[in-house]
Parts: sequence; structure tokens; C-alpha cells
Amino acid sequence: MSHVPADRGHLARPDDAGGTPAVQGSSFVVAIDGPAASGKGTLARRLAEHFGFAHLDTGKLYRATAFLVLDDGGDPADPDAAEAAACRVTPALLADPELLSERVANASSVVAAIPGVRAALLAFQRAFAATPPPPAGGAVLDGRDIGTAVCPDAAVKLFVTASPEARAARRVKELRQRGAAAIYDDVLQDMKERDARDSLRQVAPLAAAADAVTIDTTTLDADQAFETASDLIARALAGRR
Ligand code: DC
Repeated sequence: MSHVPADRGHLARPDDAGGTPAVQGSSFVVAIDGPAASGKGTLARRLAEHFGFAHLDTGKLYRATAFLVLDDGGDPADPDAAEAAACRVTPALLADPELLSERVANASSVVAAIPGVRAALLAFQRAFAATPPPPAGGAVLDGRDIGTAVCPDAAVKLFVTASPEARAARRVKELRQRGAAAIYDDVLQDMKERDARDSLRQVAPLAAAADAVTIDTTTLDADQAFETASDLIARALAGRR
């Protein structure tokens, strides 16, 4: 399933976002939130493929913003630089492998705390949810604030989480598989710092929506998480017919 249409150019202007209603029209939207390395990305991709929905990994938008700031030699904590970078993000950039580096990951949680950055990226996410690229009849968006802020009317909301230790172990494995050096204690420390920045920021912090179903993957494997989530979605789809 195609994730992001190549022809949307730049994503959004900051002044578009405030006026973008949080409605999804007839599109069936699945909102998945959770901390880093909780398994939400893998789950979102599998669900999108299974149900024929489009998938948007919204973390890539913040990673692309951070990448552009770092590439210019800028400071990710500088609101003007970060906001200008958010307005320069293109769909093509979301596929850049450099977005997966730890350097970009750490800077992405810094830019994500800047209200102007979030506003600049909001309209694109809502447009993707409301009108996913054809022929998809629905969309799966994963991130930190999808169920609470981006798509509060989503048909299904999931909060995927796991202990920091389990998530750090997964991230170390992932990094080593990509040939990067990774020390468990350093990755765990970075992860805890990133969790704190994502959860404690003023605007759209990482949080489970009141009506989200929590899936704890500390002891569940990917197949078990998929079964739980796909059952919920199948029931919600059946209820719509
Ligand atoms: O899911 P990820 O690790 O690719 O996300 C990168 C950063 O982007 C993460 O630290 C928090 C931020 N983010 C966010 O604030 N809101 C989202 N909807 C998605 C990601």
C-alpha cells in the first residue's frame, strides 16, 4: 500500500493548520499512539496492509524536520529554524534512511516540542486521514498525539506501549541489524530522556486518549499484538456496515 503520495509537494503552511477541522469524512481512521520502539510502527504497517488502508508514520514528519535543521547546521531547539524546516518537509524526504539515525531521532523530540512545528505538520496529517491516497478506504496513522489531537474522531484508537527496558533492547537489536554500534545503557538512557520530552511537553504530549485501547507489548509478540488490534478493527468495521 502506498504510504505518501509523491505529488503533494510541501506538506502544509503553519497558517493552514489552525483552520483544519479534525474530521475524517467517510474515511475509516485507525489512530495508534505510543512511545518509541513500542512496536506501534510494525503494528501500523501490518494493519494497513491487512485492511487495505494507507499508512502514515507521523514520526517521520518530525524526523524530517529535525534532519533539515541539523543539515543546515542549525539548533533543533531554535523555534524559527525548526518551524521553517517543518514547512520545507516534502513527502520524498520521508523515505530518506538518514531519518532512522539516533542523531535525528534525538533531535526530532526537541523540534516536536515546538508549537509552530506541530501546527505546520497538522494539516497534512489530517488531510491524509480524511482522504487517504486511493484506492485505500481508510488510513492508519501512528505517532504520539493521533488519538488525542490529530484525529480525535478516529474509529479505532490504540495505545501501544512496553517497558523502557524492553523497548531499549528492541532498539539495540534494530540498530545492530542496520550495522550501527549500539550500547544498551546509552540507548536506554536516550530513550528515557526522549520519553520525558515527549510526555512532558506543553503541546500535544504523548498520552493515551481516554477512549484508546492499550496494548502492552512487553510480553506480547508482534503476532499477538496484531491479532488483538485486527479483532478490534474488524469489529468496528462490522459495526459501521
Ligand atoms: O515515532 P518516532 O520515534 O519516529 O518519532 C520521532 C519523534 O517525533 C518523537 O520523539 C516524538 C515526535 N512525534 C510527535 O511528537 N508526534 C507524533 N505524532 C509523532 C512523533
